Formats: sequence, structure tokens, C-alpha cells
Amino acid sequence: MQLDDTAKLAQSKERILISRSEIGKKVKELGKQISEDYRGKCPILIGVLNGGFIFCADLFRELTIDCEVDFIKISSYEDAMKTSGHIKLLKEVNAHLEGRHVLVVEDIIDSGLSVQYLHRKLLAMNPASLKFVSLLVKQGAEKVPYEAHYVGFKIPNRFVVGYGLDLAQKYRNLADIYVMD
Ligand code: IMP
Ligand code: MG
Repeated sequence: MQLDDTAKLAQSKERILISRSEIGKKVKELGKQISEDYRGKCPILIGVLNGGFIFCADLFRELTIDCEVDFIKISSYEDAMKTSGHIKLLKEVNAHLEGRHVLVVEDIIDSGLSVQYLHRKLLAMNPASLKFVSLLVKQGAEKVPYEAHYVGFKIPNRFVVGYGLDLAQKYRNLADIYVMD
């Protein structure tokens, strides 16, 4: 039997940067903090597709307050390990965000370009508040200034996959986060 690339990676324990149990613990902490901060406000989480879908689903289930969810889809990587520097809107948000407490859920912040783009775009919809939560933030990769109000883990400037994060659309299904380069 031949192993495919995902199975091989899943077996290379030395490549694990953040384990599933560490992720689970952190998502619980973030959920608790966000539930306290947004009590009585019924926030709407905006998951950023594709990478943010697993984190968004897990975080959403840790919230103990009234809340809603919607999604936006953007692309900047075009199957590469580096941002193209050009952000494309692939799917618009459908919810009406005016007067709402909006919390954008990102998988990872690298150059900051995606957050900058989303910040401008969503602010123009006149939300009552606009904040960002990112599971990962790469250190030393920032090209534009951005604000992430909630951060799971600060990681070195390496390319990572798993828990929603891909390389050319693969490896999103891995439960741990792995270094690829
Ligand atoms: P930024 O616009 O450069 O901050 O990049 C943000 C987006 O690029 C993230 O939402 C990811 O989809 C993708 N990305 C950045 N770094 C990585 C990585 O190490 N692995 C997988 N995707 C990444
Ligand atoms: Mg993404």
C-alpha cells in the first residue's frame, strides 16, 4: 500500500509545531475570554475561508453567549508559500453588519495584508465594533501594521499546515499544526 503525502506528514511527529491538545486548550481559553468580553452583545463571527473554517467552527462552539456566524472568502496565496500581495474577494459576506459587533476569525496572520484588507472593507459597513481573532501570528513577517485583538499563538516565520491551513489546498484535515519548510 502506498501512503499519500497527508498520511506521511501525519506520521512525522518531529514536524509538529503545535499539537491538537495545545490547540484545543487555547481555543477553549479564547472562547472563554470572548464570551466574557461580548456578554449581552450577540457578536457575529466572520470566518475567513478557506483557512479559518476549522478554527471558526471550534471557537464558535466554545462561546457560551448568543452569537451568529457568517463567512467571507478571500485569496492571496494562489497555491504558493508566499503571499502574492494581491487580495481577491472570492465570496462576499451575506449578513447585514451595520450596528453589529463583528469579530473576524482568521487562521493566521502573515504579512498583515489580509487583515488590512478586511478591516477596511468591513469598517465601511458601519459595524458597532470590529475586532480580529487569529489562531496564529507569524513573528517578523509583518509588512503592514495591523491589529489582532485576540491571538492564539505567536509562531516563528515558517510555513505551517494543518488545522485548516493548507499548502496548495492539501493538509487542511490534519489535526495538529506542522512546519513545512
Ligand atoms: P497575510 O495576508 O500575508 O497576512 O496572509 C494571511 C493568509 O495567508 C492566511 O489567512 C492564510 O490563508 C495564508 N497563510 C499565511 N501564512 C500561511 C502558512 O504558513 N500556511 C498556510 N497558509 C498561510
Ligand atoms: Mg486564510
